[in-house]
Amino acid sequence: MTSNDLQSQLIKYLTDAHSIESQALIQMKMAPGIAGDPEIAAAFEQHRTETEEHGRLVDERLSALDASPSKVKDIAGTVTGMGFGLFAKFQPDTPGKLVTHAFSYEHMELAAYDMLARVADRAGDTETAQVARRIGEQESAMAERVAGVFDRAVEASLRDLSPDDLNDQVRKYLEDAHAIEAQAIQLLSKAPDLAGSSEQAAAYEEHLTQSREHQQLVETRLQSYGARPSRMKDAALRLGALNWGMFFAAQPDTPAKLAAFSYAFEHLEIAAYELLRRVAGRAGDEETQAMADTILGEERAAADKIHGAFESALDASLEAQGVGVR
Ligand SMILES: [Fe+2]
Ligand SMILES: [Fe+2]
Ligand SMILES: [Fe+2]
Repeated sequence: MTSNDLQSQLIKYLTDAHSIESQALIQMKMAPGIAGDPEIAAAFEQHRTETEEHGRLVDERLSALDASPSKVKDIAGTVTGMGFGLFAKFQPDTPGKLVTHAFSYEHMELAAYDMLARVADRAGDTETAQVARRIGEQESAMAERVAGVFDRAVEASLRDLSPDDLNDQVRKYLEDAHAIEAQAIQLLSKAPDLAGSSEQAAAYEEHLTQSREHQQLVETRLQSYGARPSRMKDAALRLGALNWGMFFAAQPDTPAKLAAFSYAFEHLEIAAYELLRRVAGRAGDEETQAMADTILGEERAAADKIHGAFESALDASLEAQGVGVR
């Protein structure tokens, strides 16, 4: 291993961060308009300022490493970032969808900066490592802020609905959960082969089994709402057919990206069930509420496990690119 190799990896991770921040900024500008609530809007406005700052800090580190803007553009054009392109496909159109997406996206950023800090540590670049950790703290704080407005998002979404409409909403959130689990199952069935480490693979495998159970539980609840398969299909379409191609065609750095993306995806699920349990609570559907609570525990544990194996995923990614492990 030469420090040169690590340096070019570092530039790649910084370039990914640059892309993620550009995408984040677009979202921060759009979010207040669909927030449906002044407090939710304010959270996004605050983070818009932070996001602009993150972009600047990342660009500074890129310049310090002598990565010319054209080189950055080249890399940004060829890599798809930490799968952020997949997330960009979600078109949040309601306060509920907005906070679900945002909660997940902040965890995508968190994962990206976590990986970046680890690569910087390995390259002995303490400044980049510090910047990555500082930004990571702000992403984490934003994720917390978003979690803090789940109640308000539900409130804003349900404000003008009659009790009948409430049941419709529970059914819709259940259909969404069903579609999200279908995506999870698709991702997790392929993930173990691409995991790069046995620790990471085990986390995916274990959660695949759980995800199948979750989908079954959701389906049972859907049946009590007279669910029709066609409507479940519609929900899957609403979610957008995610293109897993970039992961399934293994790239050298797939293990790290897959880990970051899966971590973000788990948080998409966490937010979806957080909202479902609130909407079900409003509708007096205790069974769905209890189910959401149970599933939430497993989603959180899965996210923690995936995060716990980040280092091994990064090892695998770097090794695959000829950059030896410390
Ligand atoms: Fe950011
Ligand atoms: Fe952020
Ligand atoms: Fe999950």
